[in-house]
This record gives sequence, structure tokens and C-alpha cells, in this order.
Amino acid sequence: MSKINSRENARDRVFARPWSEVRAFEFDDEVARVFDDMIGRSVPGYDLLLRLIALHGDVFAQPGSCIYDLGCSTGLASRILAQQTQGRAQVIAVDNSPAMIEQCRQRHAGLDIDWRCADILDTVIEDASLVVLNLTLQFIRPEQRLALLQGIYRGLRPGGALVLTEKIRHDDPALQQRMTELYQAFKKTQGYSDLEISQKRSALERVLVPDTEAEHVERLREAGFQTVDECFRGLLFVSWLAVKS
Ligand SMILES: C[S@@+](CC[C@H](N)C(=O)[O-])C[C@H]1O[C@@H](n2cnc3c(N)ncnc32)[C@H](O)[C@@H]1O
Repeated sequence: MSKINSRENARDRVFARPWSEVRAFEFDDEVARVFDDMIGRSVPGYDLLLRLIALHGDVFAQPGSCIYDLGCSTGLASRILAQQTQGRAQVIAVDNSPAMIEQCRQRHAGLDIDWRCADILDTVIEDASLVVLNLTLQFIRPEQRLALLQGIYRGLRPGGALVLTEKIRHDDPALQQRMTELYQAFKKTQGYSDLEISQKRSALERVLVPDTEAEHVERLREAGFQTVDECFRGLLFVSWLAVKS
């Protein structure tokens, strides 16, 4: 298996100092520069998740097809997919943050990946055997999520798949509280302070809007996917493999 990109960029200190007013979270230059460290320390099992995405590339990439990485950020999943599939399929990586796409172009220059600075809601999925939505759907307005998944379904070849990873919420308040506490404890073990954790949480409110597991599964089925199976879980983070027959 290909080696995952080492954490090439700087330590995440975005929320380390007290902000007079916490602004809404943005995928801007400051975040793009430290993004690998931020996501690696914020998502339990992130490196394993990337390895599993690469395995999906192995299993699902059809010769001459396209693999889409929607909301690619700094391109870590795109890169491991391109390395794993070795030209069997064209990797197309899309993000609407110019700072993120700039990082991708600089850091993965030698790889044959089609980097696109575009809105995934305007991106037509064509001739795809695999689509990856890794922690991106949660940033799309809830009323636009179904249409996005329907477009992905339409653009997949028969036998093609979507890997969807999301931070989820639980309907049961006690369970949600327990999982949130566990997640905060995890972030502390990753070196984040109470201030960083609480400021980032405020910044993400109304920007990252999580759904329940039932909502995700129901929406994937409504979009057309015949098979929907959970394929990864770490605290509040869940992945599903949705296959088009
Ligand atoms: C949490 S990050 C995704 C992480 C990345 N997929 C990975 O595997 O490391 C979410 C990304 O989605 C992008 N994004 C959010 N809304 C978008 C949209 N409408 N179109 C394109 N990209 C979008 C953001 O700029 C950000 O880079």
C-alpha cells in the first residue's frame, strides 16, 4: 500500500489565542496552511480512514473511469487514491477554497490529478467508479444535500461506489453528551487546550451541521443507492459505503 503523506504543514494554533469575537469557521489561507495537522489531530483514526479510502480505490476503480474527491482540502485522499490506483482511473479533486487548491497544486505537483477550484454543487459527476465525500457533506446546506447525492448517483457507473464520511449527531441527548465529552477528551490527548476546543466549536456552529446516522442512510437510499453499509467509526465520525448496482 502507498505511503500516506506525512504531515507536511505547520502545527494548528488557529484557536490557541483568545479571540475577542469568534468568527465563523472558514477554509482560508490560515486554515489551509495547518490543515493536515488540524484534521489529523481532530478526527479519531484519520490516517486509518485514508488507508481505507485507498483500499476502496483498489476495489472499485474501473479502468478508464474517474474517481472524484469532493471537498479535497489539501489533497491527502486524492493523493493516496492516485498512488493506489496507478493511473487505472483519473482522479479529479474539487474544492471551492482557492487556498486549499493552491496547497494541492504545490504539494502534489508530480501526480496526475485534475485539481479543480470549484463548487461541488456545480460539479457534474461523469463516468465515475468511485466518489469520495470525506467530511465535506456536513458543510453543505442541509436542503442541498440530497440533490448533491442524486447527482453523484447519476454520475456513477454501475458497480460504482460513494464513500461518505461525516461527523454525526445523536438524537438521544444523553448519548450525544457522552460522545461529545469523549470527543473533547480525545482532542485534549491530541494537545488541544480547553480554549482551542471551545473556540473552534463556536466557530463551527452553523457552519458544520451534522445529521443523524438514520438521516444519512435514508438520504443515501433516497438518492438511489441500493446498498448502504457502515465501513468505519471513531467516536462521532462514521463512514458509509454506498454502492450503485
Ligand atoms: C473537512 S474538509 C474535507 C477534508 C478532506 N476531504 C480530507 O479527506 O482530508 C471540507 C472541505 O470541503 C470544502 N468545501 C466545503 N463546501 C464546499 C463546496 N460547496 N464546494 C467545494 N468544496 C467545498 C472546504 O473548502 C474544505 O476544504
